[in-house]
This record gives sequence, structure tokens and C-alpha cells, in this order.
Amino acid sequence: MLVLSCGTCATNAPDGSECMPCASCGDVLNVTYDRGLTLPRDARVVFRSRLTSHALHERSGVWRFRELLPPVNDSQIVTLQEGNAPELPAERSAAWSGLEGLSVKNLGCNPTGSYKDAGMTVAVTRARVAGAKVLACASTGNTSASLAVYAARAGLPAVVLLPAGHVPTSKLAQALDAGAIALGIDGDFDVAMQAARELALRGAVYLVNSLNPFRREGQKTVAFELLESRGWRVPDWVIVPGGNLGHCVALAQGFAQAQALGLAERVPRIAVVQAAGAAPFVRAWQQNEPLVPVHATTFATAIKIGNPVSWRPALRALHATGGTAIAIEDDRIAEARAVLARDGLACEPASAATLAGALALRERGTIDEAADVVALLTGSSLKDVASIERYHGDPSKTLANPLRRVAGDMASLERAIAEALR
Ligand code: F0G
Repeated sequence: MLVLSCGTCATNAPDGSECMPCASCGDVLNVTYDRGLTLPRDARVVFRSRLTSHALHERSGVWRFRELLPPVNDSQIVTLQEGNAPELPAERSAAWSGLEGLSVKNLGCNPTGSYKDAGMTVAVTRARVAGAKVLACASTGNTSASLAVYAARAGLPAVVLLPAGHVPTSKLAQALDAGAIALGIDGDFDVAMQAARELALRGAVYLVNSLNPFRREGQKTVAFELLESRGWRVPDWVIVPGGNLGHCVALAQGFAQAQALGLAERVPRIAVVQAAGAAPFVRAWQQNEPLVPVHATTFATAIKIGNPVSWRPALRALHATGGTAIAIEDDRIAEARAVLARDGLACEPASAATLAGALALRERGTIDEAADVVALLTGSSLKDVASIERYHGDPSKTLANPLRRVAGDMASLERAIAEALR
């Protein structure tokens, strides 16, 4: 049996309350397993061997850890074989940040190009099992793309609430293409989120934002996947971008469960990185006070959020893991993005906040230069090509690489190549 309970006041919520915050204190709810989680025999071997299974859902980087998830019949699973994102060395990024032990886990390799798919496969599966009629989310773009695609697979309608004019074209295109009802509203993400919550409270929609604990259950498998792929060797630090803060909470939950189940001997420290213009959580962390919402500004539109829903559990996650939070200026994030791209690991701006955060935390002495550090890249570079074009079109940028216009004759081409190689 599953129980929904509040992480702050421990109140249990009635079955089917997953689209709502705790009725007593307003914090987000968690899925708890009343009989605990039970691993299969030889769990490490079983989890790994599923990668070669003939069953689509078993190869999924999420469902191969299914004993750690809400139970569900195979036929109900809505999957695109998400997860199993590679963790790779990144030589230039390591040199740039001064962290020789830095590696990068590229969650942008997921089916819709962002880490959201790990949570969405579980949220949409759960929605279908619960008989939900219309799924919905507020989004800066990636959640909406992911919901649209998974809802299409499930044959369910999806409504996505977007801050009009602030969502990169490719993310919006994904949602439109998959048939979602896309509603661009006047206002920022925080306004859209409030509207989505009200719709859910009225019972009009089934909300799959990360306040839905089933979505975080799926998202927590990133922690298991990360540990499993490195033979359960626990890194010293895992660095994540912070927006609405569901991801860092889910990760911390996954790492804590891995330790409690004896799969990992400790938990890594989690560092949350926000853009300086959208850093209410960093302030709350540094001042050890409740979060004060801000009007968010940053070119990293995915994390342009001024009133994050999950700040309370995110504070708990940092305390529990001995983690930290840091804010980074947009220019630094843009440069980090370009460095990652030169490592063949192009990502969208929000993701590059992790590399920029790694450098800043090393400079501060928080992260030791020999530490084993994993930076999570949460979204593919193809999610926001306009910001890349802007960067390379600006000669003041360190790694600017503009398009060179040239006549098509051999002499001009050879001269252009020689000049570029000089
Ligand atoms: N990275 C990317 C690429 C994102 O799209 C988001 C959030 C984050 C990081 C931050 O994660 O919210 O769990 O702290 N995107 C949400 C969306 C808000 O609607 O797509 P978080």
C-alpha cells in the first residue's frame, strides 16, 4: 500500500490527493511505502541485467528500478525507454573548472531531450492507473514537452500552461507537435504555476508538476541510475540546476533510499545552482530563513522561477546531504555552456549552470580540486538554439565561433579554411 504524507508536518493525505499540497501546512506530499521497499534478490545484478531485456519497459532507466517505485502492471506502463543517460569525462570542462575529477551526466539524451522524462513516465503511468481524464502542468518549456509526449503515448489529453513569449521555440514546438493544448498566459512561470494549482484544486485537471509525488518517484531513479552506472561508487558531489527545486529533492530522496537499502555506503553532497537573477532559494539557504519570492530574470529560461514550489524539502535535502546552494551570473553560465559544447556535451543554458557552479564552489574552497564531482546536464542544447546563436554572434564572447560567409570558389574556400585554422 502507498501512503501520501507530508514531509513537514507528517500528516497523511487521502488517496488521490497527489495533485495537491498538504492540506494542513501547504508543503508538498511524499509517496511512502507502508511496508517499506523490498529489493529483489541480487538487486545489483537484477537492475543491471534488465538492460539487456527484450521487454521495452525493463530496459527503461526508470523501470529497471521498479521495485523502488509504486507497483504497477506491465501493461499500464507508459514508457519511451527513458533514462540510462551516459556519464562521461569532460576534459575541457574539468580544466576550466579546475576539478580534475569532474564528469558530466548528460540527461539531455532522454527521449524528449530533458531529464523530465524520468519523472514523467511514472507520473503519466500513475495518472492513467488513477483514471485521470486531463493531464496538466505549468512549465518553462521542458516539463510541457515531456508531458505532451508522454500523454500522447498514453492517449490522454494534456494542457500545458506556459509564460507566453518566454518559452524557447523548440520546447513549444514539441508540445504543439504532440497535440497538447498549449495555453500561453500573460505573466511568468510563477503565475502559470499558481493557475495550474488552482485548476487542479477545482478538480479540472490532473497535475503532473513536481509537487506531484509520483513524478518525483520517477525522478529519484536518476540517483539509482547514476550510482549503478558507476558500480555504486558514490561521488563526493552531485551538482544540479535549481528552478522549481523538484529535481534536487527527488535526487536526495533517491540517494537516501540507496543508502538505506544498502546499495550505497553513503550519500553524495548535493549542490544546487541557480541563476543570480532567479536565486530566491540560494538566499533562503544562505540566510537560513523561509524563502522570499523574487521577480525572476535570467537568460536560462528553464530556471527562470521566482517562487519555487519545493523550497522547503529542498532545504531539507541540502541539510541531509551536507550540500550547498550557489548563485551564478548569466555571463558565467553562458561561458560554461560554450566550454561544455567544446567537450561535445552541448546543453541548454540552465544545465550549464552546474559547470559554472562547480568552478565557483572550487574557487570558494567548498569543493576540493581532487573531488569526485558529477555535474548533471538536464536539457539538450537543441532546446534553446537561439541563445547559442546569440553567443556565437557576439565577438566579445571567449569561445565565439561565428558563421563565416565566403564565396564558393576554391581559392576563397581554401583561404577561409587556412585563416580559420591559423
Ligand atoms: N534544468 C532544466 C533543463 C529544466 O527544464 C529545469 C526545470 C531545471 C533544470 C530545474 O529543475 O525545477 O526541478 O529545480 N524546468 C521546469 C519546466 C520548471 O517547466 O520545464 P527543477
